[in-house]
Amino acid sequence: MFVSSKSRAQAALIATSVLLSASSSSFVHASPSEPLNRRATTCNGSPDLCNRSFGNVTFVGAHDSYAVGINNLAANQDYNITQQLNDGIRMLQMQAHNLNGVIQLCHTSCSLYNGGPLSTYLGTVKTWLDANPNEVLSLLIVNSDDLPPTEYDTVFKGAGLDTMSYAPPSASIPATQWPTLGSLIDSGKRLLTFMDASADFTSVPYIIDEFTNIWESPYDVTTTFDCSVNRTKGDSTTEMYLINHFLDTLILGQPAPDPSQANQTNAVSGTNSLGAQFELCASQYGRNPNFMLVDFYEYGGGSVFEVAATANGVTYSPTTPIATPIPQGGSSTTGSGTAGSGTPSPNSAVSMTTRWTTVWVLFSSAMLGAWYVV
Ligand SMILES: *[C@@H]1O[C@H](CO)[C@@H](O)[C@H](O)[C@H]1NC(C)=O
Ligand SMILES: *[C@@H]1O[C@H](CO)[C@@H](O)[C@H](O)[C@H]1NC(C)=O
Ligand SMILES: *[C@@H]1O[C@H](CO)[C@@H](O)[C@H](O)[C@H]1NC(C)=O
Ligand SMILES: *[C@@H]1O[C@H](CO)[C@@H](O)[C@H](O)[C@H]1NC(C)=O
Ligand SMILES: *[C@@H]1O[C@H](CO)[C@@H](O)[C@H](O)[C@H]1NC(C)=O
Repeated sequence: MFVSSKSRAQAALIATSVLLSASSSSFVHASPSEPLNRRATTCNGSPDLCNRSFGNVTFVGAHDSYAVGINNLAANQDYNITQQLNDGIRMLQMQAHNLNGVIQLCHTSCSLYNGGPLSTYLGTVKTWLDANPNEVLSLLIVNSDDLPPTEYDTVFKGAGLDTMSYAPPSASIPATQWPTLGSLIDSGKRLLTFMDASADFTSVPYIIDEFTNIWESPYDVTTTFDCSVNRTKGDSTTEMYLINHFLDTLILGQPAPDPSQANQTNAVSGTNSLGAQFELCASQYGRNPNFMLVDFYEYGGGSVFEVAATANGVTYSPTTPIATPIPQGGSSTTGSGTAGSGTPSPNSAVSMTTRWTTVWVLFSSAMLGAWYVV
């Protein structure tokens, strides 16, 4: 019997893939969507990070990442999440609400700021992850209305992110036990999702309980950042930890995001800077923070990423310049914020009106006892 060289090659290929798939079954992380036996040589921008445990890397996070807008007191960021990710943000924090049965990203209440449905947001995350195969990304979801994780699972599945999500072997693991960035990337499971409330390892194992895995420093800071353990449900001596490094200003007695001091807040060094809080925490606990949540991340011209790079022992060298701060009071682009209508304002007088409309909404919410936009 004659076998053409083509079919011989095919037979060899089949034999090889049978062998490969047989051996791959011993790798728990093998994912059908990623090539087998892949070995990442660059991880989150550096070869040096591939062999580092996820729990031993410092990441910059965008606080209220979906709350994008200018001249809007309910906005924490100037740029959308695609720009945030392109510039180096590697944890996206968000507040999720139940709006008539749809999981929606709102700020305090959907009448104050509605950042659109989680499904749209996750679609953007998926597109970015697909375009950036050597990146590990974390999500931090504030489950404001205590929705069951199965409802999130449905939305993750719709976006195709369930199969990219890392599920740890148990509900909580110490900082030192997380897999390396390289193995997360090789396995194709490079999205890590943490949730502050109602996570349930037995029903959706990739929605990871935040506070048994991560402790947090105080939030709503309007004066000086410290490094006390503010919220935890686990052992803070072994958990990863997150510092809330966004400075609020009091408006009508309520804390609100304020870009006017963000250059200094985000700086590498100086009073109340990110660098200063980082140093304080590192010296207090003998290890670096894992996550640093900031507002208006581009203020400081990349300083927040420089703090992280230095912490990780790598060089901060962006391939393209990062976004520049958009001056407040100028032309307004309020995203989908309800308080700022979303239409660009022709002049700063209108912008100020927009800002005062937000103050009014805030004030009314305060009267109703529903204040607090951070
Ligand atoms: C990572 O560690 C493995 C063994 O632990 C080693 O063979 C490999 O060279 C290391 N890779 C890098 C990029 O340091
Ligand atoms: C996100 O912002 C960038 C500019 O920073 C813009 O080019 C892009 O179109 C925006 N994406 C969406 C989905 O709005
Ligand atoms: C945590 O921080 C919040 C806001 O700053 C504060 O109200 C609360 O008292 C703090 N709790 C602890 C246990 O430190
Ligand atoms: C922040 O720094 C940038 C760049 O130096 C500068 O253009 C901008 O005016 C500063 N913003 C504020 C609010 O100080
Ligand atoms: C990573 O490990 C090094 C060496 O032990 C330590 O100095 C650093 O603080 C750790 N970083 C984090 C985020 O745990």
